[in-house]
Amino acid sequence: MRIRKLVLNGFRSYDHVEISPSAGLNLLYGENAAGKTNLLEAVFLCALGRSHRTSRDPEMIGHNRAGAYVGLELETKSGTRLVEIKLRTGDDASKNPKDKKQIFIDRQRAEKAGELMGVLNVVMFSPEDLALVKASPEVRRRFMDMELCQLHPAYYRKAAMYNAALRQRNALIKEAFMNPIDPEVLDMWNAQLARTGAEVMRSRLEFMDEISTIASDMHRRLTGGREQLFTFYEPNVPFEGKEAEYAIYEALEASREEDIRRGFTSRGPHRDDIGIKLDEKDVKVFGSQGQQRTAALSLKLSELALIREVVGESPVLLLDDVLSELDDSRQKALMESAFDCQCLLTATGVESAARNRAACLFEVKDGRVTQVE
Ligand SMILES: Nc1ncnc2c1ncn2[C@@H]1O[C@H](COP(=O)(O)OP(=O)(O)OP(=O)(O)O)[C@@H](O)[C@H]1O
Ligand SMILES: [Mg+2]
Repeated sequence: MRIRKLVLNGFRSYDHVEISPSAGLNLLYGENAAGKTNLLEAVFLCALGRSHRTSRDPEMIGHNRAGAYVGLELETKSGTRLVEIKLRTGDDASKNPKDKKQIFIDRQRAEKAGELMGVLNVVMFSPEDLALVKASPEVRRRFMDMELCQLHPAYYRKAAMYNAALRQRNALIKEAFMNPIDPEVLDMWNAQLARTGAEVMRSRLEFMDEISTIASDMHRRLTGGREQLFTFYEPNVPFEGKEAEYAIYEALEASREEDIRRGFTSRGPHRDDIGIKLDEKDVKVFGSQGQQRTAALSLKLSELALIREVVGESPVLLLDDVLSELDDSRQKALMESAFDCQCLLTATGVESAARNRAACLFEVKDGRVTQVE
C-alpha cells in the first residue's frame, strides 16, 4: 500500500500543508525542530489512531488552535481509502468527550479506534526504538507482544488470560502472612498459570523463530556481511525437551516458598526476554551505539516482511532519524535494501546515501514542505 496524499491543518507546528509522496523512498530533510517528526507522527496517527510519542492527543493540536485535522489518501490493493482524524481541545464548544477525537474511514465516522486497524499498516522506527536493545527486558517483551497482537489477534486473549491468572496468584501470596494460603487454591492458580503461560511461551517461541532469520538477513545486508546477528527467545522457564505447561508448573512449585517470602511470582513468561547477540557477544552489554542501533533496526525491519506475508501487502515504512549514528556504508546499505515498499525517511541533511537511490526529496522549512526537483 502507499500514501497518495497527506494533508495537515493545525497539526503541531503546521498551519496547512499537503504532500504527495512517491511510491518509493521519500527523504524529508530539514533542520532540528523543522517539523519532520511531526509529519511521520501524523501518518502514524492515521494508522493506529494515536501518536507514537504521546498518549495525550491534545498535544498534537497546534498552539492557539481549537482543533487539528489530518487527512490521508491511501492506495491499497483493494482500492483507494481515505482516513481522516479530527482532534479538538477540551474547551472547544462540543463537550462530548467522544468528539475530542473523531475518526473517519472513507468519510464514515468510526465508533472505535480499533476500526482503523488494518486500513493503513505502518512500521515505524524512531530514536526511542534504540531502547529495544538497551532497556530492560520489559521493553523487549512488549515488542514481542505488540507484534504478536498485530499478526495474530488471538494472541491478545492468551496473554490477557495469563496476566489475569498472574494477578490472582500474586494477590494470594502477597496476603499469605494475614490469610494462610490454602494449598489447593494455590495449586489451582499454578495449574492455570501453567496452562495459559504455555500458550504464551509457544507463541513467542514461534514468533522469535520466524523473525530471527529475517532479522539476521537484514543485519547482514546492513553491515555488508561483516556482522552476524543472532536473536532468540529467552524464556524465563526453559522448556526444551519438556512440555511447556509441565515446565512452568514445576518451576512454580519449586519457587513456592521463595515467592511467598518475596510476595510475588518470580518465575514464568512475565519475566521472559529476547537475547540479542552479535558474533556471539551480548549486544546489550558489548555493542557500540551504532551496533545497537543497527540491531534494533534489523529487528524492527523484520516486521515489514512478516506483515507483508500475513497481510499480503507491503506496509508503509516510517524511518525517523535513523541515519545518525550509522556510518556511510550502513546508511547506503539501508537505502539500497530492496524494501519494496513506500518509505518516508527523515534526516537533517540531504544525505549522500539517499541520492543514490533516486529518492524523492522534500525540504521541511518554516512550516512548509516543498518537493525538490
Ligand atoms: N502542539 C504544537 N503546536 C505548535 N508547535 C508544536 C506543537 N508541538 C510541537 N511543536 C513544534 O514542532 C517543532 C518540532 O517538530 P519536530 O519534532 O517534527 O522536529 P524535527 O524536524 O523532527 O526536529 P529534529 O531534527 O530535532 O528531530 C518544535 O519547534 C515544536 O515547538
Ligand atoms: Mg525529529
